[in-house]
Amino acid sequence: MDSLVVIGLQWGDEGKGKIIDVLSEKFDIVARFQGGSNAGHTIKIGEVTHKFRLLPSGAVRGRKVVIGNGVVVDPIVLNNEIEELKKQGIDVNILISERAQVITPFHVMLDGLQEKFKGRSKVGTTRRGIGPAYSDKITRVGLRICDLLDRDENLIEFFERFQTARIEKLYQSHVSNADLENIIRILNDLRPNIGDCGRYLYDALKKGKRILFEGAQGTLLDIDHGTYPYVTSSNCISAAASTGTGIPPFAIRDVIGVFKAYLTRVGEGPFPTEISGPVGERIQTHGREFGTVTGRSRRCGWLDLVALKYAIRLNGAKYLALTKLDVLTGINPLRVCVKYRLDGTNTDNIPAFAQDMSRVKPVYKELPGWEKPAKSWEILASEGIQSLPEEMRRYIEFIEKETDCMISIISLGPDRDETMIIRNKMPSWINDV
Ligand code: IMP
Ligand code: MG
Repeated sequence: MDSLVVIGLQWGDEGKGKIIDVLSEKFDIVARFQGGSNAGHTIKIGEVTHKFRLLPSGAVRGRKVVIGNGVVVDPIVLNNEIEELKKQGIDVNILISERAQVITPFHVMLDGLQEKFKGRSKVGTTRRGIGPAYSDKITRVGLRICDLLDRDENLIEFFERFQTARIEKLYQSHVSNADLENIIRILNDLRPNIGDCGRYLYDALKKGKRILFEGAQGTLLDIDHGTYPYVTSSNCISAAASTGTGIPPFAIRDVIGVFKAYLTRVGEGPFPTEISGPVGERIQTHGREFGTVTGRSRRCGWLDLVALKYAIRLNGAKYLALTKLDVLTGINPLRVCVKYRLDGTNTDNIPAFAQDMSRVKPVYKELPGWEKPAKSWEILASEGIQSLPEEMRRYIEFIEKETDCMISIISLGPDRDETMIIRNKMPSWINDV
């Protein structure tokens, strides 16, 4: 079955949106399976920059897009994004799972209140209600799209009473503008686009359609395998494409992991290779490392191969997309973390205990940097890998050797045309369309 999962291998913001946009040309359907409007995907096409929080990136190319049951859906955000694209002449052809949990204004409010209550131990969330919506799902007090559409009045009444009690009694705050009727109205308008996404996707695969599963956030933010508690509230690894849409695991054919030539993180939590000072600031400025959703500046650091290999293993990625390589231009030497030291011993794995993760010392290998080439990245991208500066090629080869993966896509700038696809390193079934 021709399906590909595209996954972030770091702490999110690896450039998945751009890679998915480039790849979606070869796919019929693009589906999201986890997260919600905490994601921020930026896609630049010519002079137009599209920013999505919830819609799958394939929407820009007019592909059929699917929002799976594993996503937490804020109907207000969804409606705004669909309307925004409509204004630009793009009709969104969408199917939304009736089983997806709904983010309500209560959840957005609770996200802020909970962070404030946590004080110094706050996670630094995007405050979009993600954590509260997922925890309500697990506690079985959440509302799914079908529950609101078919108006289970008992569930709705309990939900409102429960959320109001939490906000007033636990957080000593008061509820404002938490109108569920508005959300129900939006969902009713979308009714023709709401249905059983697991069945739809499985049938499509059986008919030979190609599906691209679009991961949000990144492996190090995974609720189980990330740097807990500084993580998001969903599983963001490739396996979640199955549970988050309702297709069986064997329907996943290949996995491409996306990573940046360096590392960034937004929010709190340990970050062994974080760079303070001018080099970090340079990467932040040149890489425009500011959040799509929150506008917060991202912490920057060197590429961490310990974390990268951990993520590759968890996702079963054989193919990689390397992004933002151009941002490192002019930095010399470059450093890459090859192992950690913890209490005098070497380790090549991510410690589970957050306090250990914040104490590890990265061991670096230094690699020579490169200068700005005479030709533009766009021209170099069209000329192929041999045209890249020699030191850049050495950087790429070093990562391939260390990870034992193929780098199939190299991104040298935000534009579609600044992308190099290395055909003989792509899953062959994707090439033959
Ligand atoms: P939440 O997902 O809003 O609960 O935030 C939890 C943590 O995940 C915070 O550190 C956020 O900054 C981070 N996070 C959530 N979504 C993204 C994303 O799409 N990119 C990068 N970081 C994210
Ligand atoms: Mg992002």
